[in-house]
Order: sequence, then C-alpha cells, then structure tokens
Amino acid sequence: MTSHIDILEGIIENRRTVKPSEFSGEKIDDALIEKILSSANWAPTHGYTEPWRFTVFAEDGLASLGDFYSKLDQPNPDAEDFNEMRFNKLRNRALCCSHVIGIGMKRGNNPKVPEIEELASVAMAVQNIWLSAHAYGLSGYWSTGSLAFRDEMRDFFGLEEGDKSLGLFYLGKSASPHPKGRRISPIEEKTRWIKS
Ligand SMILES: Cc1cc2nc3c(=O)[nH]c(=O)nc-3n(C[C@H](O)[C@H](O)[C@H](O)COP(=O)(O)O)c2cc1C
Repeated sequence: MTSHIDILEGIIENRRTVKPSEFSGEKIDDALIEKILSSANWAPTHGYTEPWRFTVFAEDGLASLGDFYSKLDQPNPDAEDFNEMRFNKLRNRALCCSHVIGIGMKRGNNPKVPEIEELASVAMAVQNIWLSAHAYGLSGYWSTGSLAFRDEMRDFFGLEEGDKSLGLFYLGKSASPHPKGRRISPIEEKTRWIKS
C-alpha cells in the first residue's frame, strides 16, 4: 500500500512549471478551482493575518486580463519601438488557460508582522495551490516578469495602497507530456548542520 508520505513526496517532487502554450484549452470546473483555493487558505500565517488575496479570471475575464496586461506592457501602439509580436503574446497567453489567478498580498496592520512575513505566507499559499492543482492532474505556472509588481496590477486586482501584486498563476490542463524536473545542486549543498 502506498503510504501518505510516498504520496506527499510524489506530489512535491513531480509538481512542475507548465506554461500556457502547453495547455489543451480544456476548461476546468469553477468548483474544482474553489477546492484548490481552499487549500491555499490553509497556508501558515503569523498572527492569522491571512494575507493572500486571489482574483480569479475565467471565461470572458481571461480576455479582459490579456487586454489589460498587454496594454500595461505597451500602452502606446504608435510608439516607434512597439513590438506587436510581444503585445499579442501577452494578450493571448491568458486565453490558452482555463483560469488565471491574480496573486495578491493584503498588508495587515499587526505591527508584529513585517511585510516579509506576509510575502512568505502568500508564497506558501501559492505552493498549496500548485501542489493541489498537480494532485488533481492540472498544470500551472507562477509568472512574474517586469509587470507583476506594478501598482497598476495591484489596483487591477482591487487591492489598495500598501498591498501588493505578486503576479499571475496560469492554470490549465496540459496537452504535453509532463516535464522532467531538475535542480542545479542537491539539498546537501544548501544546508548547514550545526551540532555543537
Ligand atoms: C515567485 C516565482 C516567480 C516565477 N516567475 C517566473 C517567470 O516570470 N517566468 C518563468 O519562466 N518562470 C517563473 N517561475 C517559475 C520558475 O521558472 C520555475 O519554478 C523553475 O524553473 C523550476 O521549475 P519547476 O517549477 O518545474 O520545478 C516563477 C516561480 C516562482 C516561485
């Protein structure tokens, strides 16, 4: 019988970044997205500030996101250096997905909880989303790049000053073979033990 730890290790080790260009276009039920998001809500959080805020883009919302995102990147189509290929790539990326989740951080007012802890907590919530999606046979990708942290993204997510956008999580069903993972160096090279 497969033990809990084998299952957990398998999910952690086999979770991969899969980009929207690999997605089949198949749609996922909103109910499943809600289940995945409920895993995010179990992320640890100092002082129960629970700073993760998600904006789910689906259906026509995907086109709205693509439109906003491409225009944020290149607002002026008449500019001399306007790159139409890049513009279309950014606009269409969301359309390959089933859902896109805007990742936000709500800055709490507990003076004992510095911003770095809120950011760490949101990252743990995203990991829960990613692992849960993988366990359901879905694929995902956390995208940041030059636009992710812009105030306009935060505003687009309906967040306020002091809050932060941390990028987009693209979700879909992959049409490609599951990619093999790789790490540059083993954990032993990133760990120091002190026993005396
Ligand atoms: C906070 C964060 C931001 C990321 N942003 C990008 C990105 O903008 N572009 C990209 O290609 N990958 C991005 N990634 C995905 C990484 O490239 C990916 O996790 C890494 O290559 C390891 O692959 P794996 O997720 O399949 O193990 C991001 C990952 C994290 C955690």
